[in-house]
Amino acid sequence: MLPWRLPPRHGAKKRPDPYRVWLSEIMLQQTTVAAVIPYFEKFTARWPDIAALAAAGEAEILAAWAGLGYYARARNLHKCAKLVASEYGGAFPDTEAELLKLPGVGNYTAAAIAAIAFGERAVVVDANVERVVARLCAIDTPLPGAKAEIRLAADAITPKKRAGDFAQAMMDLGATICTARSPACLACPLREYCAAFATGNVEAYPVKAPKKARPHRKGRAFWIEQDAHVWLVQRPAKGMLGGMRAFPDDGWNARRDGDGQLPFSSDWQDTGVAIDHIFTHFSLTLSLAATESSVAGESAENGEWWPVKDLDKAGLPTLFRKAASEWMRKRKS
Ligand code: ADE
Repeated sequence: MLPWRLPPRHGAKKRPDPYRVWLSEIMLQQTTVAAVIPYFEKFTARWPDIAALAAAGEAEILAAWAGLGYYARARNLHKCAKLVASEYGGAFPDTEAELLKLPGVGNYTAAAIAAIAFGERAVVVDANVERVVARLCAIDTPLPGAKAEIRLAADAITPKKRAGDFAQAMMDLGATICTARSPACLACPLREYCAAFATGNVEAYPVKAPKKARPHRKGRAFWIEQDAHVWLVQRPAKGMLGGMRAFPDDGWNARRDGDGQLPFSSDWQDTGVAIDHIFTHFSLTLSLAATESSVAGESAENGEWWPVKDLDKAGLPTLFRKAASEWMRKRKS
């Protein structure tokens, strides 16, 4: 049995300790039950209640959290413990709306704590529940757009009493039987009500929106050379290839082609170099124009003249490295 739960048939009146429910739900965000159990045991042995956790040092909590990942959770955990100890007299607020105000407690977690620890009829939807409901109702709208529809369907089947047991039963069903890849429909207690099962193609649900095709962009980069040095700039810290050295360019990015303009008038040469490169969100064909000039160094502040023979030491991103070596190969031949 999961250590944050009460044994079966505990009776509708008895409820699990809100502190343990809260702690388990925070730990279970983005983390599997199997990974959480030993941490839950360790935390509750060392800090058995909210007062103990609030009195602990942040460094101690972070050290005990090490290995669970997503460390913002541990910092929020401590913040929340101190807040509950100081502002709420050491008792967790008992409604979904109040719980939602606590640090680290979002929509899902507030609903889960309200239902499991306080018996509120809250609608608890995590990724497992989402999948179970999408199948049960054969919801054809693709995710993520279907979230509101799935929530309404979950609301429609959430009982007035024991909403917490209902939510955890749905989660367990999603984790063990109604799994994403190989649902065990023959073992499923909901099979006879399941609209997706009736279609004969359970795995088609939940429907997911197709991944967007990568847009294709065109851009230019500029090789400006004088006395065996080439002009390199530093890209802005934020955004694509942030802070990296680069050739000056015509403003291309994931959303737009470059403007195609040359940066200043000179005797520009089209090198014929065109590099195809794939980024996560777009693909790019980068062409290279070259000139001999000392203009760039005088007009721009955020750059440097780099010896052409040491270009491999400039730490250029692959795209620019490819363009440079292609150009040097071409002009030698
Ligand atoms: N995942 C998140 N919360 C859970 C819970 N209370 N029981 C099982 N799996 C969960």
